[in-house]
Amino acid sequence: MAQVYALKYLAKAAVSAPRDLVNSFVARVKPIHPTVLIYHCTFVCDARCEMCSNWTRGDRKTDMTLAEIEQAFDSPLWKNIENANVSGGEPTTRNDLVDICRIMLDKLPRLRKFGLNTTGLTPHRAIPMLTKIVEMCEERGVIFSFRVSIDGVGEMHNQVRKVKKGFEKASQTIRAMQELQKKHKRFNFGVSTTIFHMNLDDAENILAWAKSEKLDIVFNMVRFTDAMLGNSELEVKWKPMGPEEERMREFFLDRVRMDPLLDG
Ligand SMILES: C[S@@+](CC[C@H](N)C(=O)[O-])C[C@H]1O[C@@H](n2cnc3c(N)ncnc32)[C@H](O)[C@@H]1O
Ligand code: SF4
Repeated sequence: MAQVYALKYLAKAAVSAPRDLVNSFVARVKPIHPTVLIYHCTFVCDARCEMCSNWTRGDRKTDMTLAEIEQAFDSPLWKNIENANVSGGEPTTRNDLVDICRIMLDKLPRLRKFGLNTTGLTPHRAIPMLTKIVEMCEERGVIFSFRVSIDGVGEMHNQVRKVKKGFEKASQTIRAMQELQKKHKRFNFGVSTTIFHMNLDDAENILAWAKSEKLDIVFNMVRFTDAMLGNSELEVKWKPMGPEEERMREFFLDRVRMDPLLDG
């Protein structure tokens, strides 16, 4: 399944490769329109992760309204966006998430890949919303990739995300998405794992679990950035240092050496 998606993705990427090459030269001498967009549709969150501080700045009152979002996406600034991702905070905490995605899908004329990351912690909300978004992407011929974030197997996940029964709840969303994937060939579904000081020892365990569940898995190396994650002050606490940093590096190099080229 991941291979079907990856081949479609590579085929679409190949078509725009000459333009990308020209753009990369032009961008050195004059500003160009962006081609990639990550939209944090809210900072409100249903988890309180150890390695991310976005949840601390969640405030529904400062979220853009649907009308404001629609107006913002009318701007010609986005005319060349090819790859858009909805993130947060937790996107599924917004009641109007499906409408936000519809606006993005309809207003970005060059869009070819749409993605969304979710905690999957409220399956009764997330499953119907994600199902609808999958259908909208399919109708518009846009390839799409959703990932449920999993940072440990069982209790480790609950500790990282500070949510009781978090692994159990996220697993429900995962199972529903795996079912949905059977109906939609261009749906790339999998899990996403952020590796840092707290769960480095669990990394191989997470990998083995993902393989046993036939889940495509993407590992993120921990980052500290106020713009994206509001978490620069966490660097002292969670950045793997010295021998631990070397182990993390080896784990990531092993992924490049050992995992199939077309894996997430
Ligand atoms: C910021 S979250 C927003 C979407 C949703 N709340 C979630 O957790 O999937 C997007 C992705 O960033 C990852 N992430 C969180 N903290 C990170 C960090 N410090 N460095 C790198 N990735 C991180 C999460 O694991 C998640 O997969
Ligand atoms: S990683 Fe996602 S779930 Fe965790 S605090 Fe950040 S935004 Fe919330």
